[in-house]
Amino acid sequence: MYYSFPHQWWGKVGMGAAVYASAHCILLPPSLLQPSALYSLAPYGGGYFMGNMADQRAGFKTMRESTKADWDIIVERYQPFARELPDRILGHLKLLGGDDGGFLVDRLHHSLLTATLAHKGGEDEEYVVCALLHDVGDTLGSWNHPDVSAAIVKPFVSEANHWMVEKHGIFQGYFFFDKIGLDPNMREQFRGHPHFERTARFCELYDNPAFDPAMECAPLEFFEPMVRRVFEFPKNSIYRDTCHT
Ligand SMILES: [Fe+2]
Ligand SMILES: [Fe+2]
Repeated sequence: MYYSFPHQWWGKVGMGAAVYASAHCILLPPSLLQPSALYSLAPYGGGYFMGNMADQRAGFKTMRESTKADWDIIVERYQPFARELPDRILGHLKLLGGDDGGFLVDRLHHSLLTATLAHKGGEDEEYVVCALLHDVGDTLGSWNHPDVSAAIVKPFVSEANHWMVEKHGIFQGYFFFDKIGLDPNMREQFRGHPHFERTARFCELYDNPAFDPAMECAPLEFFEPMVRRVFEFPKNSIYRDTCHT
């Protein structure tokens, strides 16, 4: 590790001259303050010395040649990226707005109605957030949106809630699959599963009735703090202990 404070570190540049650098490189020679010069600094310990912690880059071109120092940089840089996940999720949810797809409400409105109903139904915060995000996969997973939505919530929710989001498409089909030439009883393949009733109930009470434009609907801002709390710490991820502090 060649840094010990958030914005200050000691290190070596080029042929080994010791340089003390701050967040603004104030002790580096002016010739080294040009961006091109900064990028040309010799790699040290695998990583490139830059003037700001936020600018540090690993030096490897293949993962096989990466070093511990490289990964110290990457793990450090990962922290702010991971903390912004709730913003990215909320931004992606907003992409569902404006596309009604022929329904009486657009996909964002449907999501908000589902979450509003779940909240009114007395469900806990994690459940309400799952209700809000159950269709968030629609934009990229247009042919398997429950899988995409479930993958997004998986590290942060219980196995029961994950399963509920993942399987809600098939369970929701109970109400309409017969109208599009599919088997409305497709969900029967899961009969007896520990989360069958939970998922059937989610669709019955919250997903199925959330298409009424006249229904009272909480705004996205109401759910934002819930999303931030639920997505604050991953419960299930192989990277949890390495990348999350
Ligand atoms: Fe859905
Ligand atoms: Fe839905």
